Formats: sequence, C-alpha cells, structure tokens
Amino acid sequence: MTKSADRTPKIDVRVTQIVDVTSEIKRFRFEPTDGKPLPVFAGGAHVVVEMEDGDTLRRNPYSLMSSPGATDAYNISVRRDPGGRGGSMFMHDRVTVGSLLRLSHPVNLFPIDRRARKHLLFAGGIGITPTLAMMSELARYGDAFELNYAVRSENDGAYLDQLRNTYGKRVSIYRDDQGEQIPLTTLLAAQPLGTHLYVCGPGGMMNWVLSTAEGLGWPAQNLHSERFLAPPSGSPYEVRLAASDLSIKVGPHQSMLEAIEAAGVDAPYLCRGGACGQCETRVISFDGTLLHNDHYLTDDEHAGGQKVMPCVSRFEGRELVLDR
Ligand code: FES
Repeated sequence: MTKSADRTPKIDVRVTQIVDVTSEIKRFRFEPTDGKPLPVFAGGAHVVVEMEDGDTLRRNPYSLMSSPGATDAYNISVRRDPGGRGGSMFMHDRVTVGSLLRLSHPVNLFPIDRRARKHLLFAGGIGITPTLAMMSELARYGDAFELNYAVRSENDGAYLDQLRNTYGKRVSIYRDDQGEQIPLTTLLAAQPLGTHLYVCGPGGMMNWVLSTAEGLGWPAQNLHSERFLAPPSGSPYEVRLAASDLSIKVGPHQSMLEAIEAAGVDAPYLCRGGACGQCETRVISFDGTLLHNDHYLTDDEHAGGQKVMPCVSRFEGRELVLDR
C-alpha cells in the first residue's frame, strides 16, 4: 500500500460496469462494497478516485453524472488522455469490471443556484458530465433550463442520443465538423432577467463564454464554471516542509501535493485541480521561481509569492520552504 497521510473518510467501491461511450470516453459504474447506500449528492458534485499505480497513488477528480437521487451506484465518465500524467490511462487500461477502488465523499464546487429564474448550461466535450447530473436535478424540480453542447462531431459527442431523447428541444448540439457554432451573443441577449449561466468544458470555450457574458453585463454572481486543471509535468525539484521537518523530492510527473502525501504528511484538498483553494499552503521562503498554475489565487497573490497551491503548481530553483 502506498504511503499516504490522508485521513478523510473514504468509500470503497467495486466497478460493476464499464461502457465504451465513444472511442475516447468510457463510463464506469461504481457500487459500494458494503452494500450500504452511497452518500447523496447534488448536481455538479465530483468525487476523487484513488488509483494505486505502482509506487504512485494517483487521485483524480471526476464529476458524478448519475441522477443525484440514486444512492445504489455512482457513474463517472473518463476521457482517455495519452498526453496526461497517467490517471485516465490507468482508468482506461487497468481498471476492469470487478476492480476495487476507493473514492472520496462527493464534494460540490459547481452547485446549481436554485434562486435562478432559468438555468442556461454550456458544455464542451467531456465537460458534459456534471451537466448531466445538473439537468437531472433541474428536471426533477421542474426548473427552466436549456443546454448548449459543443462537440467535435456526432461520433465524438458523448451522450447525444440520451440528451435528445430525454430533453428534446431543451438541448441544442453544435458539431464542429459541420461548421456549427453556439450563437453565444444572441443566446445571452435573449435570456430573461435572473438567468444563471453554467459552463464546463475546454479552457478556451470557458473563457469565451464567461468573457462574453461579462462583456454583456451579466452579474458575476450569475456566472458559474468548473475548471479542474491537470497538474502539469516539469523538472524535478526539492521542497523543505518546515513544520514536518522533512525535505522531499517532487518527481517530474508528480504534483507537489502528491509528493507531500507520499512523504506521509497530511495535506488538505478538495478538487486537486487548482480551483477550490483547499490546498493553499504558506510559502516561508524560496530562492527561484514559483510556477503558479492554479486559477484560485489572484495575480497579486501569485506575484507576492507568499502562498502556493501544491495540487497544480510547481517550483524551479534552489530552495523552497513551505509551512506544512
Ligand atoms: S485542492 Fe483545490 S486548489 Fe488545490
């Protein structure tokens, strides 16, 4: 068993179904090994899936896409990413029906705001997964919503038939290879006052949707997004953990958070993707360059060099000392 000091409660599950959704996306069904009901969650929630990959304990966040009311099983979808650090490849190539995995309890950083008069959802690619659970919840409550879903092509799009059959005209699908584009400005201008916007997808699409809405005067509190970054690889480096009195090495394909965990030091996290702020760690001193990759800290905080988000950020230089 890989060493880790993570003492948060976990859920042991068995993989009971794996479905090829597209050539790149697989859906996994997890059922609890103890047969007890799983914790309820709300649309937009994710779990962190633990994967023991040789000496490395990987923990990747995946959005829950099942109906939030279902407590007998959770479903996630994973897109194969051969250029990533290995988590998605592990899920695709090593996990089979019957595999035992461990999950965090669900956490929701992308909740629906039920005060909204209408919910306008945007998804791109695998960003459809939280949206599926959100729509299921909105439909259950009878709330007004519509989805605009951008895909590369009919074959690459996940869950297209399910969406068309379940939600009919409330879903619009835009296929890149057919030259179809979300008519964003027109759509945004046509919404009733009090509409909330939700977007999940590739970074470029999210920036486009959010900046267009901001430019048209949408209030910031009506804009919701979820963007988990994959921790980037880089040169190896060393970190001194002052409170734990340890010096640790961070490997080229390891995040600082993973290295801290592997050293047996308890370190908080929720998203593991630079979004939630939970892993924020005080920098005591450094001689080099902090490579901030999160989108939680402000530009001023990045420049100040007094905080770092070890789930996605790295370091280059002679010495980094953290208060951990
Ligand atoms: S765990 Fe969420 S920002 Fe690091």
